Amino acid sequence: MTEPDFLRDTRNSYNAMAIDYAENFKNGIDDKPVDRAVLAVFAELVRASGNTDAVDVGSGPGHVTEYLKSLGLNIYGIDLSSEMVELARRKRPGIRFEEGSMTALDLAEGSLGGICAWYSTIHVPLEQLSGVFADFRRALVPGGHLVLGFQSGDELKHYDEGFGHKLSLDFYRRSPDLVAGLLNEAGFEVYARAEREPDPEEKTRQAYLIARALG
Ligand SMILES: C[S@@+](CC[C@H](N)C(=O)[O-])C[C@H]1O[C@@H](n2cnc3c(N)ncnc32)[C@H](O)[C@@H]1O
Repeated sequence: MTEPDFLRDTRNSYNAMAIDYAENFKNGIDDKPVDRAVLAVFAELVRASGNTDAVDVGSGPGHVTEYLKSLGLNIYGIDLSSEMVELARRKRPGIRFEEGSMTALDLAEGSLGGICAWYSTIHVPLEQLSGVFADFRRALVPGGHLVLGFQSGDELKHYDEGFGHKLSLDFYRRSPDLVAGLLNEAGFEVYARAEREPDPEEKTRQAYLIARALG
């Protein structure tokens, strides 16, 4: 099957800017207390469910993967970009990172207690998102949890340049209600939501959803 253009363009874009992207965001979530709080709630829910196996989908440089591991999750990262995967392995040799796309996950059914997709579903068009959420639901045990982070809004942005590199990168700002509706249709109950104001380097409000896989 031929790969959709958006996946090829997203991969090429992150491959081109991986090193500079990681340098620019080198503090990760260190100065993001709300983000850390949401991830901590997610980790606690996953631990309480008794299955700490988890995946960070779209793990990038691996800051969030590392944080969730420090909170007791048996987690590894998956990312579309081979350069991001290489970089994450170099920076965090104690954590497993694999190449793969959330649109074609090879995860055993009912095998995970948690899935994190932190600012990575932002690159997936709406018409693909229901399928991605249905696959997340299948990979989770009933009662398992999903956490999403994304920019709040209703807009498609396109970048053809980033950190001095030529890109072709789409990303979507979405309303939490829209995303929550898709999660419900895919077999999740949205358990918690948070939204915060943009930090100085951000342009929009930031949204977080924690959803529970229904049985
Ligand atoms: C904005 S970065 C966020 C990285 C990381 N989650 C963080 O918060 O630091 C988006 C990441 O998602 C990855 N990505 C985009 N589309 C993806 C897909 N279809 N499957 C897996 N990873 C994807 C990109 O390669 C990139 O590393």
